[in-house]
Amino acid sequence: MDLKSLLNKEQYEGATTVEGQVLILAGAGSGKTRVLTYRMAHMIDDLGVLPYKILAITFTNKAAKEMKDRVKALIGERAEDMWISTFHSTCVRILRREIEKIGYKKNFTIYDTSDQKTLIKECMKALNINDKDITEQEIMSKIGKAKDNLQSPASFMREHQTNFREKKIADVYEMYQKRLKENNALDFDDLIFKTVELFKTNKETLEFYQRKFQYIMVDEYQDTNKVQYELIRLLAESHKNICVVGDDDQCLVEGTLIEKSSYSKKYVWVAEDGSYLNGSFSISSGKCTFVSGMIY
Ligand SMILES: Nc1ncnc2c1ncn2[C@@H]1O[C@H](COP(=O)(O)OP(=O)(O)OP(=O)(O)O)[C@@H](O)[C@H]1O
Ligand SMILES: [Mg+2]
Repeated sequence: MDLKSLLNKEQYEGATTVEGQVLILAGAGSGKTRVLTYRMAHMIDDLGVLPYKILAITFTNKAAKEMKDRVKALIGERAEDMWISTFHSTCVRILRREIEKIGYKKNFTIYDTSDQKTLIKECMKALNINDKDITEQEIMSKIGKAKDNLQSPASFMREHQTNFREKKIADVYEMYQKRLKENNALDFDDLIFKTVELFKTNKETLEFYQRKFQYIMVDEYQDTNKVQYELIRLLAESHKNICVVGDDDQCLVEGTLIEKSSYSKKYVWVAEDGSYLNGSFSISSGKCTFVSGMIY
């Protein structure tokens, strides 16, 4: 594949740096997704990487399909063996195989917003919570946020037990999770939350997927929340071949002080403790915080 004629210099560098930790930050429409697409095709076609060793994550099903189609146009049917999908679809695929290890049955149901609402209302009724005091929307949103932040019902309860109103929400969260499990059901946020739980409590299962996904890529990384970050961190922990692509204009909080050697490309992996590894740019001062809390 003659990548040099297909990509500009920075894109080429991003597409051909396949080992290690790579963070590509560039503006809207600058060809970030193109880099990922050619990177995958290059890995398979030129470097002989086995397609099933690659996991690529996007944020929408449409974006996943587009990416798969683009790779397919470059390398043909082999692209079918790659996992190119959203966080949710990736997790559903893993959970359909593995969920018995955390006490659910493989044929679990996925609740949509309306199923979720019905169950929340049932819990509110059982707990004598009047929807004039707390609406189900507020409860759903707080439970969703807790799950995005990897907060279990027990931890939510510990944090809020001195606040009468928030404690009621904690009671609902607790009962809601219990009933979901009794119904062998997961809500949308649970899909990622429970996959992280599975990996944290089943070392062998985690190791299997760590071995399988030798190369991991994430598009639109600036939109990643804590639970999604944790999933990626766990999966990438063994091989540490991770390439994330994002638009830094969308993720850096105003006033963030960072110094970059080049705006068009940087190669870093943001460690959990906030330090930068393998960087071609360095933090000069201040704290860099992604909206979704990727750097703490
Ligand atoms: N080096 C290049 N040669 C030819 N076309 C390019 C090149 N780089 C980008 N493009 C084209 O520019 C358009 C935008 O590219 P792409 O979708 O990869 O950008 P992006 O940074 O991912 O955008 P977004 O911010 O919307 O996610 C696409 O049509 C892509 O094919
Ligand atoms: Mg893109």
